[in-house]
Amino acid sequence: MNDNAFATSASWETQHTLEGSRSARAFSPSNIALAKYWGKRDLGLNLPANGSISATLKDFGSFTTVEFHPDFAEDTLILDGMPADAAKVRVVLDAIRARASSIKDRARVQSRNNFPTGAGLASSASGLSAVALAAAGALGLDLPRGELSAIARRGSGSASRSLFGGYVEWKRGERADGSDSLAEPIASPEHWPLAALVAIVEAAPKGALSTGAMERTRATSPYFEAWVEAAQKSIAGIRAAILARDFDALAVAAESNCLRMHACAMAAEPPIVYWRPATLAAVQRVRELRAGGTPVFFTIDAGPNVVVFCEASHAARARGALAELPGVHAVLRTEVGEGARWT
Ligand code: DP6
Repeated sequence: MNDNAFATSASWETQHTLEGSRSARAFSPSNIALAKYWGKRDLGLNLPANGSISATLKDFGSFTTVEFHPDFAEDTLILDGMPADAAKVRVVLDAIRARASSIKDRARVQSRNNFPTGAGLASSASGLSAVALAAAGALGLDLPRGELSAIARRGSGSASRSLFGGYVEWKRGERADGSDSLAEPIASPEHWPLAALVAIVEAAPKGALSTGAMERTRATSPYFEAWVEAAQKSIAGIRAAILARDFDALAVAAESNCLRMHACAMAAEPPIVYWRPATLAAVQRVRELRAGGTPVFFTIDAGPNVVVFCEASHAARARGALAELPGVHAVLRTEVGEGARWT
């Protein structure tokens, strides 16, 4: 299917589950925003200042087991084999427990990503959506996807979108309690099976985690309000371009949205600069390709890697053009795919 070093199947074994525990396992894919979420209007409920749209990635995601047991003293997280901060996971587990009123059990969460954690591929998106789905499964809760999306959102905003496949919109919502701020599908992967190439510039964890960087941008960037206004305005055009499969319109709108987000973040104090020289080289290469008649466009999340979208027929050429750039360590190939599922 592909030749990526990072894309593996579910070929890892979880620790044996304890007797008397309730557990379930889920795979949830990562997603890449074509219209970015950057800035919160409510920190506690994790509500976004603006709506966002993403494409769900087929091959990259998190395999996550959630195991509830009456003997566990607290919620714990093992991420890629190492103990990790469980704060965001706990928020999701609390929301799931609140829907299963008799359950007070704490949980052990084991999660493994099949791509480099923290490299701008939004491991929180795949990880926390997988936690929501697996936790619901473990407790036998058959919750609608929209409700799971709102629960995953509490842990990490971008996770709200990974519950669905294809092209997905996370609505800003209007209500103060956040009940209308959840994702819904725009179009299936089959509607427009675009290829996604991830030019890996750096696989190490990013310098500033999204949550803190986003908050710093909101608090200190003089461009924040303008960004939110422009971002909200760009949603309708990006949604329409996806529905019409209008590649040129999507290319222009998604690149502009991405550059505005980064410009806004760069203007924060202290500045948030995710880019490396190879990031800009990849951006330049994409622009050259497009000028030369190869329909491709780029986007960049909160990290230095560049994600390039194109029709499958142009993917080999685009991948070759990116792979030869100094500072680009690898170019992973995937495509738009299905959303989170139990495994
Ligand atoms: C640049 O979803 O990681 O990837 O809600 O604070 O966990 P929190 O933020 P997170 O931010 C993702 C930011 C982004 C853009 C996007 O995915 O829309």
